[in-house]
Amino acid sequence: MTAADWPERALDHVWYPYAQMREMPLPVPVAGVSGCRIELADGRELVDGTSSWWSACHGYRHPAIMEAVHTQLDRLPHVMLGGMTHEPVVRLAERLAEKTPGQLAHTLFTESGSVAVEVALKMARQSWDNRGDTGRDTFIAFSDGYHGDTTGAMGVSDTYRDLRPRFAGLVNEHITVPLPSPESPSELERVLDERGPRIAGVIIEPLVQGAGGMRVHSPEVLARVAELTRGAGTLLIADEIATGFGRTGSLFACQQAEVTPDIMCLSKALTGGTMPMAATLASESVFRAFQGPDETTAFLHGPTFTGNPLAAAAANASLDLFEREPRLNQALGIEEQLRAELTPLVDLEGVRNVRVKGAMGAVELAPGWSPDWMRQRFVAEGVWIRPLGDIVYVTPPLVIGGDDLSRLTAAMGRVIRELFR
Ligand SMILES: Cc1ncc(COP(=O)(O)O)c(C=O)c1O
Repeated sequence: MTAADWPERALDHVWYPYAQMREMPLPVPVAGVSGCRIELADGRELVDGTSSWWSACHGYRHPAIMEAVHTQLDRLPHVMLGGMTHEPVVRLAERLAEKTPGQLAHTLFTESGSVAVEVALKMARQSWDNRGDTGRDTFIAFSDGYHGDTTGAMGVSDTYRDLRPRFAGLVNEHITVPLPSPESPSELERVLDERGPRIAGVIIEPLVQGAGGMRVHSPEVLARVAELTRGAGTLLIADEIATGFGRTGSLFACQQAEVTPDIMCLSKALTGGTMPMAATLASESVFRAFQGPDETTAFLHGPTFTGNPLAAAAANASLDLFEREPRLNQALGIEEQLRAELTPLVDLEGVRNVRVKGAMGAVELAPGWSPDWMRQRFVAEGVWIRPLGDIVYVTPPLVIGGDDLSRLTAAMGRVIRELFR
């Protein structure tokens, strides 16, 4: 590849995610990242409002994570976890067991959030089967929920409700109910009552439903879901892939409702956004269901790069930063500033709603505008914000300074005013 003209070839061979390739505009060419800035190939700099899909919680290239990964690279970049093990993965699993709520003491590592969800669904289902309770083949998920793009995860993602029939035979239909609310207090209860013996588990994104529209629910709603799930004797799966690691103001969103799930999925900010890694954590009771005399009760799932040492080293360094630096207070500071700076936008023409939870701020707009136009406008404003459906939202690195955060919110205000002028 020649040096300078690669951005022009960006669409020739790479198939970009979530894009209609026929009309996709040239993606923004990035040369480097540092702190809360994205450096473009043409020398411009953008303030990052995305943490690269909720992952770079400490900003980009945090020196502590860089050093941990470099040291690990020199010694042990990868070795299979089939029959072998290494210190970074052992230590990481111990620390996750300590830090997550309840008794989630057993972790299976994968490389993406969707696969962590696949593992959670398989784990829940097989745990019942191993116990001789063989009829539990259905999951309950929530309206506007999203749990990933792989086929199992699509089956429990309401965001894929319209697409699912096109994948019939590959993607299963499960049960979707609204979150408990004054309008629909007991739909979950009713389904659990009627279908209880068939239900393998209830899967939820605690406190913030991300891809389904940055929707926020209260700790009371989450606690009610947990209570009903427990009451029905089935498993609660907390998908904290987006909410985990400080995004909602606590290390895990479940902690705000004092909820202890049976299975938890983590990814995104697990490695501070540096390496692909995901984790599915199981309670003692789920883990025990897999103890048996032979392989028929074992959990047969193990990707080539499970527990990768580089990713584990990055994750350990990221957890050190959560211990050493005031990340959760920073998230709460961001929440306060986002409330102050985004709430007034609700009075603008075209704005339907403003939602803030922890270090996530979303503005829901009237539909009918072009996301590509908006992305270009944001780049011209010197910020990186990627709209989702009718939502313009920010999930900045938790270390973002007040001035940079104001640049993001001011750009949102300017672009929205221009859009509905
Ligand atoms: C709540 C939730 N679950 C699962 C996923 C899927 O994770 P990945 O994109 O790493 O497969 C996402 C990704 O956005 C998510 O927000």
